[in-house]
Amino acid sequence: MAQTSTPVTGETADAALPRPTRFADVKGWFWPVDQLLFDWFLSHQRDTDPDGRGDLLELGAYLGKSAIFTARHLREGERFTVCDLWDSPAPDDSNSAEMDRSYATLTRRAFEANYLSFHDELPTMVQAPTSVITSRVEAASCRFVHVDASHLYEHVHGDIEAAKALLRPGGIVSFDDFRAEHCPGVSAAVWGAVATAGLKPIVITGTKLYGTWGDPAPVREALLVWLESRTDLWHGVEEVAGLPLIRIKGTKAEAPAPPKSRHRPAPVAVPVPAPEPGPASRPRTSPSRRLAKDLLPPIVTRALRSRRGA
Ligand SMILES: C[S@@+](CC[C@H](N)C(=O)[O-])C[C@H]1O[C@@H](n2cnc3c(N)ncnc32)[C@H](O)[C@@H]1O
Repeated sequence: MAQTSTPVTGETADAALPRPTRFADVKGWFWPVDQLLFDWFLSHQRDTDPDGRGDLLELGAYLGKSAIFTARHLREGERFTVCDLWDSPAPDDSNSAEMDRSYATLTRRAFEANYLSFHDELPTMVQAPTSVITSRVEAASCRFVHVDASHLYEHVHGDIEAAKALLRPGGIVSFDDFRAEHCPGVSAAVWGAVATAGLKPIVITGTKLYGTWGDPAPVREALLVWLESRTDLWHGVEEVAGLPLIRIKGTKAEAPAPPKSRHRPAPVAVPVPAPEPGPASRPRTSPSRRLAKDLLPPIVTRALRSRRGA
């Protein structure tokens, strides 16, 4: 089922495909509070381990919104892999129904066009079910994994196992839709991993849970210090499964500066107003006619005008 990538560059991408001029034009589900947290976790890794390298991985990329954002944290020597079915068939009927319901018009080309509007090169693309990912990415090589593919329990369960195997010690995993009413399988799988598979949650937002299989304490303390400085984010701490868990309410979150598109908006055509009729376009009256109009009685000029009109 896995397909290999055809190289596409900014120059060769199909002109009929999307050319977003702003990050906001890329469709997806990636809210300001999570943009802030992605920025924070990925920058914190850079700041606390400047020489350390670790790859980035996204399971479920859709049209590239979170991938475009994540890729700006890619450092020299690191690899970014994204895995998605895009227009390939899903591995089972339930996943196929999920795809038809939610992503009917999804194409790999649209992802590529969006991504190349913001970055010079495509990431490593694995067009396949996420179940193949452990055979494509080296074990213990990733510093950050975003799990946002199928929302069905069996698939998410497999993605959690994969994330655990692919993260390097202390790496961070982010799970999307871990508590939404329309996808109970994600909650069951994620909280199941907290209860039985050693996943330690660090922080939750309205849509994502961030955790680690390493020691959560240092990163949690650093995150709390940063949160104290944010007047746009409410936060609290609550004991869950024996560990402090940070909760963030981000409805007023101020989104970080968005990735910049390489496309400029098309110039807007300004309507040119019709020229006012100037002296040149006014009907001319000959000097002899003007003189006759001034000297003759009105009754005669009216009679002359009506004869000319006839
Ligand atoms: C919620 S979208 C991802 C959204 C994206 N991360 C964003 O922020 O815009 C889920 C994606 O998972 C993909 N997907 C669903 N089931 C999958 C599976 N079994 N293997 C790989 N990808 C899958 C879908 O094609 C879809 O693009």
